[in-house]
Amino acid sequence: MRTKLARILSDRDRRESVAARVQDYERWYGGASRGRGDERKTDYRDFENTYYDLVTDFFEYGWGQSFHFAPRAANESFAASLARHEHYIAHRLGLEPGMTAVDLGCGVGGPLIEIARFSGARIVGVNNNAMQLERAARRCEAAGLGHLVDWLKCDFMSVDAPDACFDAAYSIEATCCAPDKAGVYGEVFRLLKPGGCFAAYEYCLTDGFDSDDPEHRRLKADMEHGGALPDIARPHEVDEAVRSAGFELVEARDLAAEAPPGIPWYEPLVGSGLSFASLRSSAAGRRVTHGSLWLLERLGIVPRGATQVSSLLDLCAVALAEAGRLGIFTPMYFVQARKPD
Ligand SMILES: C[S@@+](CC[C@H](N)C(=O)[O-])C[C@H]1O[C@@H](n2cnc3c(N)ncnc32)[C@H](O)[C@@H]1O
Repeated sequence: MRTKLARILSDRDRRESVAARVQDYERWYGGASRGRGDERKTDYRDFENTYYDLVTDFFEYGWGQSFHFAPRAANESFAASLARHEHYIAHRLGLEPGMTAVDLGCGVGGPLIEIARFSGARIVGVNNNAMQLERAARRCEAAGLGHLVDWLKCDFMSVDAPDACFDAAYSIEATCCAPDKAGVYGEVFRLLKPGGCFAAYEYCLTDGFDSDDPEHRRLKADMEHGGALPDIARPHEVDEAVRSAGFELVEARDLAAEAPPGIPWYEPLVGSGLSFASLRSSAAGRRVTHGSLWLLERLGIVPRGATQVSSLLDLCAVALAEAGRLGIFTPMYFVQARKPD
């Protein structure tokens, strides 16, 4: 069921605090901290939780239950492209019944449900955001997959699980939120059984990113500010962090750069004007959402601060689409790593 606009941020427990929380987010992690990232790394739990408490309803409204991008073929639906991107991870990890995998930063469970259903493997979803985890658990039960799934409400930098307890691990556009790449990969290494594999879609700046170009730097800062990202890495930094954690790097490549001619990953943020699937996430759709929220906020139907959250997300969406168009950023740097026997 799709989220209704009037329900955005309107849970009774949360509505009082929206304006204060978005202002705190802007004060601590926006303005002065743009492009530096120090506070975003030291306070990463608060940084991420505040952000995801504020934006989750918007993501579900505009995107659905899988909070990631995907390469899309010309004749492929948005939903099919997301599922294919999720199946690819399951396929690369060889997930099958009898195996147990951990999903680090599982969001509201869209990919986890798809991967559990596709592979038959048992999946443990890790997320530090309580509200998202509650929604994920509810959806999983409704999908009849409760027997295949478990949840851990904890920080993926230090997961509440014993050493070597998982056959496989994956993360979809979530380790980009880690304050320290070697730290999060080191934790994955600890959790995996010897011979177990980890696969991830990482956010990365590409070789086209020029740190001397002020426009490139501004786009990076906007993506980080609007997307709660401590510091977007370069591919070689990801590769080095994977190896420094003790892994053997099996494969690392940018799936966006090799996508067959089709619809670029950032198209839903721009909108062709003809696509129903991207109506809400497109630039025009976001303008309609923003205007409607402005009115609903004045009428007291959505909480004060909702339009500010919408502006924050717009900042991120515009920067992502432009960085994608310029080829200076990818949300799908695919990494597969293996823990030695
Ligand atoms: C962009 S969302 C991706 C969610 C999910 N993988 C998907 O594709 O739908 C990033 C997720 O990482 C989670 N996250 C961020 N930092 C975390 C941390 N330190 N520990 C656990 N989860 C974290 C957020 O709560 C959010 O669910």
